Amino acid sequence: MSRVPWTIKYRPKVLDEVENQEDVKKQLREWIESWLGRKPETKGLLLYGPPGTGKTTLAYALARTYGLEIIETNASDSRNMTSLRNIVERASMAGSLFNERGKLIFLDEVDGIQPRQDFGAISAILEILRNTKYPILMAANDPWDPNLRDLREAVKMIEVKRLGKVPLRRLLKRICTEERIKCEDGAIDSIIDASDGDARYAINFLESIAEGYREVKEDLVNEVLRRKERELNPFETLRNTFWAKYGWQARQAVSNSQIDYDLLMRWFSENIPVQYESLNDMWRAYDALSRASVFLSRAKKASWDMLSYTFDLMGPGVAMAEVAKKTQNWKAKWKNYQFPQLVTQLYRTKRTRDLRDQIVRKIGLHLHTSSGKVYSDVLPFALVYLSKEPEMMKNIDLSPEEINFAKSLTIHENEDVRQHIEKKRESKLKRNARRAKS
Ligand SMILES: Nc1ncnc2c1ncn2[C@@H]1O[C@H](COP(=O)(O)OP(=O)(O)OP(=O)(O)O)[C@@H](O)[C@H]1O
Ligand SMILES: [Mg+2]
Repeated sequence: MSRVPWTIKYRPKVLDEVENQEDVKKQLREWIESWLGRKPETKGLLLYGPPGTGKTTLAYALARTYGLEIIETNASDSRNMTSLRNIVERASMAGSLFNERGKLIFLDEVDGIQPRQDFGAISAILEILRNTKYPILMAANDPWDPNLRDLREAVKMIEVKRLGKVPLRRLLKRICTEERIKCEDGAIDSIIDASDGDARYAINFLESIAEGYREVKEDLVNEVLRRKERELNPFETLRNTFWAKYGWQARQAVSNSQIDYDLLMRWFSENIPVQYESLNDMWRAYDALSRASVFLSRAKKASWDMLSYTFDLMGPGVAMAEVAKKTQNWKAKWKNYQFPQLVTQLYRTKRTRDLRDQIVRKIGLHLHTSSGKVYSDVLPFALVYLSKEPEMMKNIDLSPEEINFAKSLTIHENEDVRQHIEKKRESKLKRNARRAKS
């Protein structure tokens, strides 16, 4: 039996049913009415805001409210853009827009456009915006990417905010009533707190509890929330694995964990010598972990079925490496686990890396080349050049913070980059030499 998820079943059909977002609805109405009055104020609108706040819903509700046909296209597929261009061209030749049934063009998730892969998508949209006789609505979570600058300037931007607690509560309670499910007020409040203004998350959460238990009780919701938290806690996963007496317990600990597998492997790698005291145990544990890593890369490249072996090796493989576990009076030892070095390092340097990547991206955009190439071939020269020609920094749109960062990069950092390039060059030479031999 197919069942419609509640997010779809209870999706508002017309603007009046959309919760919150009063200001957005007003602006959407005025905009469409300006089209209907043949004097569009702006051709395109871009709705932006966090997930699950109703952007896609608003687009469909707007079309339905005004009896418009909605043409939704994935902007990041160039074939779609060609057919969209045809539609728009035909309309501009046919003359009046509302001779036929009016249309609303909707481009969802425009921040998903990858300028390199989806070459020309942005310029296609800009062209369509110039020529269109139909209103064009777009949506995005994060419209602040430098790649979207031209687009931002060509449309009117409207922010869609997170849903407040009151409208969310109204929404969830209505669903409970219609589904005839008993929902405790405290349970609803806990769900709302956890959902952070995201209606999709809140509705899905409510549905999953109701589906499993037929009623929505506060302690149940809190238990599920706690479990979610635990599954995200690497210390918990480590402890459950190292302390597992049986293989299946260790496997469960690893496969229940919601932590990214590569990251989890680093946690194990860092903490095997913390937990185990005998060198032999450590050796066996690392042996299992390294095999787990092999299967993980196979899983990624070939088939996710391999993940099962990764779990076996990372869980039971590591847990059973401790020989003493098989003896009668073995007791788990409490240890203070450590953050993986890499994680702490990355965390400490995150801001710096973000700034560097941002600069690299902007230079790449300017030179029409990939970030990888900029990093390996251009960056050291660009930094020297930029420090001598500060005006250039403005031309490539660096923010004041990025400018300061670029200026602060010392000879020492340039030296790092130089060494990096030198190493790359050497390995390339070696590879070429090997190829020439074989
Ligand atoms: N303002 C709202 N009023 C009522 N229901 C809403 C509202 N916003 C979201 N929902 C519910 O949440 C579901 C998801 O919302 P929607 O797909 O519109 O979010 P979105 O803003 O487009 O998210 P994303 O950024 O992830 O695309 C809808 O199907 C609907 O059930
Ligand atoms: Mg959406």
